[in-house]
Amino acid sequence: MLEGKVAIVTGGGGGIGRGIVERFVAEGASVVFAEVDVDRARETQAAVGERVVGVVCDVREPHTSEALVVAARDNFGRVDVLVNNVGHFGGRRVAFHEQTDDEWDALYQVNLAHVFACSRAVLPRLVEQGDGGTIVNVSTIEAFRAIPTRAVYSAFKAAITGFTRSLAVEYARHGVRVNAIAPDVTETLQVPYSRWVGPEDEHLIPTWVPLGRFGQPSDVAGVAVFLASELSNFVTGTTVHVDGGTFAAGGWFPTEEGGWTNRPRRP
Ligand SMILES: NC(=O)c1ccc[n+]([C@@H]2O[C@H](COP(=O)([O-])OP(=O)(O)OC[C@H]3O[C@@H](n4cnc5c(N)ncnc54)[C@H](O)[C@@H]3O)[C@@H](O)[C@H]2O)c1
Repeated sequence: MLEGKVAIVTGGGGGIGRGIVERFVAEGASVVFAEVDVDRARETQAAVGERVVGVVCDVREPHTSEALVVAARDNFGRVDVLVNNVGHFGGRRVAFHEQTDDEWDALYQVNLAHVFACSRAVLPRLVEQGDGGTIVNVSTIEAFRAIPTRAVYSAFKAAITGFTRSLAVEYARHGVRVNAIAPDVTETLQVPYSRWVGPEDEHLIPTWVPLGRFGQPSDVAGVAVFLASELSNFVTGTTVHVDGGTFAAGGWFPTEEGGWTNRPRRP
């Protein structure tokens, strides 16, 4: 699906980013990935093998975005795809009114600033190359649904929706497509559900997730391949929810009797 394409993936050494790196390479792409953790970068590069270059860097630092574009050009001669994957819901779980300016700024840096910077660095290449290209932004289902005590994270992720739409329209005339993915309940380093849910509660998973299981990075990677490939040639400015149905379910839960309720006793 991605034969001959060159991709940049941020946060490619773990979680969803690692899943995307693995799947992109399996589909024929060459990949430059950014990773702040040196061990994860080394391990991923060694495991995924040829056609992968890990750049140890922090995407929040100035000029990292340009360095990633240079690495793609120097190693593989071009860039076709950017996946803006790095993001985090943040530190202290405290009420909104107890949060500090520094905490909000940290959320901006990790969830949004680098999405702008990497997109700005890549777009001139995509336009200059003249044969399209794609940007895939990794958002969250919580850009569309509430996450109490994480309102600022939610707001920055919701900003990705607006950014994705506007950038898609602005660069459509150059054949560049811009889309987003909104994951939920996906087992990663950041949210290790299998550690959080003990065997005694595993039977509840279908209550929480309509498709009856937690997601894996490969679930998100499949959609990233679709959005990066020619399969989605007429898709731009939109967000694909990769959540096992949690957003669609809203407040609806299956009951033990096989029915449905929006008034669970113990949600
Ligand atoms: N896992 C989920 O269920 C879920 C749900 C909603 C949204 N998301 C979004 O998916 C994206 C990936 O999440 P994940 O769960 O795979 O995260 P993760 O923490 O498991 O993996 C992130 C990877 O990026 C690296 N990284 C972190 N900060 C970096 C930085 N500043 N510079 C370079 N590398 C950095 C980490 O070392 C790690 O390898 C994020 O944007 C997150 O908000 C995930």
